[in-house]
Amino acid sequence: MSLDGKRVLLIIAGGIAAYKALELVRLLTKEGCGVSCVLTKAGAQFVTPLSLQALSGAKVYTDLFSLTDENEMGHIELSRAADLVVVVPASADILAKMAAGLADDLATTLLLATDKPVLVAPAMNVRMWQHAATQANMATLNKRGVLVVPPDEGPMACGEFGPGRLAEPPAIVAAIAQTLAQILGAGGSLNGALAGKHALVTSGPTHEPIDPVRYLGNRSSGKQGHAIAAALAAYGARVTLVSGPVSIPDPAGVNVVHVETALEMLAAVREALPADVAVCAAAVADWRVETLAAHKIKKTNDAPPSLTLTENPDILRIISTPGPRRPKLVVGFAAETENLYTHAAAKRERKGCDWIIANNVGGTGIMGGDSNEVTLINAAGEEIWPVMGKHEVAVKLAALIAQEVA
Ligand code: C5P
Repeated sequence: MSLDGKRVLLIIAGGIAAYKALELVRLLTKEGCGVSCVLTKAGAQFVTPLSLQALSGAKVYTDLFSLTDENEMGHIELSRAADLVVVVPASADILAKMAAGLADDLATTLLLATDKPVLVAPAMNVRMWQHAATQANMATLNKRGVLVVPPDEGPMACGEFGPGRLAEPPAIVAAIAQTLAQILGAGGSLNGALAGKHALVTSGPTHEPIDPVRYLGNRSSGKQGHAIAAALAAYGARVTLVSGPVSIPDPAGVNVVHVETALEMLAAVREALPADVAVCAAAVADWRVETLAAHKIKKTNDAPPSLTLTENPDILRIISTPGPRRPKLVVGFAAETENLYTHAAAKRERKGCDWIIANNVGGTGIMGGDSNEVTLINAAGEEIWPVMGKHEVAVKLAALIAQEVA
């Protein structure tokens, strides 16, 4: 997307990589993008307001309690005027403050007060990046919808080697352009594009009881389905999320129906219909035990018990069946480890859904992790998406859904 006429609020935090923020400002302004810069106290140790002002052609803000600035433009106004808030470099310190909700300077106050999407490009020493505290902060921010341009791996200013180097400015520009395309493609902001629409999402695993204490289940975390429900709600849809047992919190602003089994999930889905769009991200157990034992099956010296399994209903196929209650758009998922396109395209035909999000679960850390590698398959063919955070996959998918059903 062209960046011409777009507005970015750029927050520059402390770190040796702050010098790359100058190049970023140059690249953005070259493309016609308006950049307002906010420099933290630590950031000002590495780059000067004068350089940023010269490159952006605009006033640079540093002070929370500046009478002149408040007179010209209240600090909350700064983010209102922007399409996107970008933090480059995002130091361990500012990420921790964002995660904790601290607001002790202009940058953190803006980040807490803004209702605009926020994109961060972290940069720090490799051990600071890998520290459990930083990773926990990143997970918190990810859950809240903060978008990330992950750091690169390579030699660092401190002489160490590993992930933590700020992504190169052209990659950050590309991420900004992609994010703006999603936001603006959805009608100018994330809000409103799906107003008045009902979205139904299934998420998480199902647990199929064997006896009162045991069950058949799978490793689905529900992170992707929950993120999709949150992204659709952010686009203004009324969302019903039918969730199997997960250990993550309910997304805000979403009507969540908690279920255990595939049969309960199907009943909740039927109850929730009609919907304008349905996204089936749940990893529904294929089978359930035919007869549930009334009491805990005892371990004896005899042979282990044998369980007779029976097939669960295919919720996605049922939702996709043509009829007056079929949603305009039905999206299914296909977790594959090989022949991704062939298997997923066949699944789309078999189940009768419109789109399939095929996710490659062959890579390490994909299942249950925070990132996902997906291919969108529809009648037109396939579109391969790069590895992204699950939240980013959700926002991109929600943007496409908004275009299709709005
Ligand atoms: O057949 P498979 O389980 O690989 O298909 C995955 C897709 O089908 C996912 O979208 C999943 O939510 C959906 N599904 C379903 N009900 C089932 C099995 C799968 O809705 N019983």
